[in-house]
Amino acid sequence: MENVEEKNAGAGAAGSFKRICGILERHGRNPAKLVPILQDVQEEYRYLPREAMNFVATSLGIPPSRVFGVATFYSHFALEPKGRHVIKLCDGTACHVKKSTPILEALRGRLGLSEEVKTTKDMLFTVETVSCLGACGLAPVMLVDEKVYGQTSPEKALEIVEKIIREEA
Ligand code: FES
Repeated sequence: MENVEEKNAGAGAAGSFKRICGILERHGRNPAKLVPILQDVQEEYRYLPREAMNFVATSLGIPPSRVFGVATFYSHFALEPKGRHVIKLCDGTACHVKKSTPILEALRGRLGLSEEVKTTKDMLFTVETVSCLGACGLAPVMLVDEKVYGQTSPEKALEIVEKIIREEA
């Protein structure tokens, strides 16, 4: 599988927007399909590189501000590169009451992250908080690469992280 760095490099290199051209073609270069186009671009690069958004705007003949506007409106879109493993810790009411905060602190402490710095330097992990994941009965809930972990604790969360680190070593 292609690694994140290659993809990021691909997004930045001049004349290397072949993948985006393919996405645009699939959507008929239709400005009305901007959201699905951006979804596909994000799937390709794991986030929306600024150069890619500019390229999409130029190709569709629409102002870059419109593309950026859509990208920032939907929380689903990421404007910064994410790590290979994305941990989403629920901080909705039920999870907060069941002590999600110590889990977040443990994860950030282990990975050297903070509210401002969400991705590790080696691009292995991104830790973010989300509002209700719709599994309140399992609170506190954590999502790791789309896999749901219920009734987590700082210890369990760190075990999961250590396992991933071992697997990636
Ligand atoms: S509040 Fe966390 S799953 Fe609902």
